[in-house]
Amino acid sequence: MTLRRPADQDIVVVGATGDLAARKLLPALYNLDIEGLLPERGDVIGVAPMDWDDERFRSHAEEAIRSFSRSRLEPRRFAAFAARLRFVPIGPDGDLAPLRAAAGRPERLLYLAVPASAFTSLARALGAAGLAAGTKLVIEKPFGHDVDSATRLNAALHEVLPEERIYRIDHYLGKETVQNLLVFRFGNSVFERVWNRDAISRVEITVAESLGVEHRGAFYEETGAIRDIVQNHMFQLLAVTAMEPPISFAAEAIRNEKVKVLDALHPVAPGDVVRGQYAAGSVDGEAVPGYRDEEGVDPASGVETFAALRLQIDSWRWAGVPFLLRTGKRLAVRDTRMVLSFREAPLHLFRAVGLRALDSNRLVIRVQPDEGISITFVAKRPGPEVTTQPVEMDFSYEGSFKASTPEAYERLLLDAMIGDPTLFIRTDEVEQAWRLLEPLQEAFAEGYPHLSLYSAGSWGPLEAARLLEPDGYEWVNP
Ligand code: BG6
Repeated sequence: MTLRRPADQDIVVVGATGDLAARKLLPALYNLDIEGLLPERGDVIGVAPMDWDDERFRSHAEEAIRSFSRSRLEPRRFAAFAARLRFVPIGPDGDLAPLRAAAGRPERLLYLAVPASAFTSLARALGAAGLAAGTKLVIEKPFGHDVDSATRLNAALHEVLPEERIYRIDHYLGKETVQNLLVFRFGNSVFERVWNRDAISRVEITVAESLGVEHRGAFYEETGAIRDIVQNHMFQLLAVTAMEPPISFAAEAIRNEKVKVLDALHPVAPGDVVRGQYAAGSVDGEAVPGYRDEEGVDPASGVETFAALRLQIDSWRWAGVPFLLRTGKRLAVRDTRMVLSFREAPLHLFRAVGLRALDSNRLVIRVQPDEGISITFVAKRPGPEVTTQPVEMDFSYEGSFKASTPEAYERLLLDAMIGDPTLFIRTDEVEQAWRLLEPLQEAFAEGYPHLSLYSAGSWGPLEAARLLEPDGYEWVNP
């Protein structure tokens, strides 16, 4: 397969001295360069309100790549990459006029690696500096914090740029496993035939993190698990899992089907949600503090670090199948997966020999870590008696491909440079995702549902089990 090389353009990172640039963007650009996937001509221009020059930026990039790149920093390769690096200081007012003089190419990808509160003013500054023409703009979540703020942000962006030049990143869509789900579903006829309410009894999506809020306590106080993970990453996983086959693999065909899933989601009732917050506990054998003792967090905080939701999709394919979403910080392990449980066999021929309903077939899509897919089924234990046991058929990325998985940001930066919007979030998707959560946000503001504490290192509040009780099931933990 020939790899796609983007047309000539500059890559501008506004906020180039910050955390996102160091951890993700500079290492991703370096890895793309190694693979010959940066434009043949074009600079990587760092922009920030700092008194830095090109040399200072190059040594910053070198350090960032040394610390965070998936491939090791090699001096010769880095020297070639560093030759593209330039730095443009701007004032604290965010005026982008200095960039106009520095931009070498008429086309550019401009990444706003800055806090979301600066998106609108920087987009306007882009227009005021006469740089809107020729710019593709990349921004990251949070895209607003409710319907109203998201609509205002979108309107402000559209004053400067048309929708097709705005690339909203949800880095979960750049993950290999999530992209593979499209291939798995629509490239294999065997699975698509059972991908519906006739065969599937429930779908669980878990995004579990063992880390706490780290140094982002103040940010998290304004956010919470629903806004940080559910509104974006989990709704994207849900959309890709539940969407109808698109009429083609073209960007808009895929994005249309994803939006239809969000449109078909039943409004979320606060009674179908469990909220939790981690208390002190132990993770990987180490004692860790509770959320309220983290730096930057109100000691009486009512912010949720865990959320579980029971959702329904009102479509012919999924009516009556619960979609159970669960996410939390300081859970037992870091693990993101989708579990599709299949209906039990219609006759329990083997109940007498110990086959339990819980052993019914399961398809597990492991998004991270240990990326792969497995199918669980029951087998007869060898021997003269008929005894059954659940067993697994497993595909692992590492085992099958023996290559290191590219970082989500590499794929997303490349697609944005090329101008392929498939893996980016459209205006209507963002607004619909917020609309769905609006009743919840109102209920939360009134303290409902109440917040349950859970010990760090557990699987969240015991109450989360309540969401599966109507069907007599339990959460499937890794
Ligand atoms: C970010 C959230 O969007 O995703 C973080 O703001 C979270 O709170 C992170 O830790 C998880 O991403 P990943 O790729 O490590 O699963």
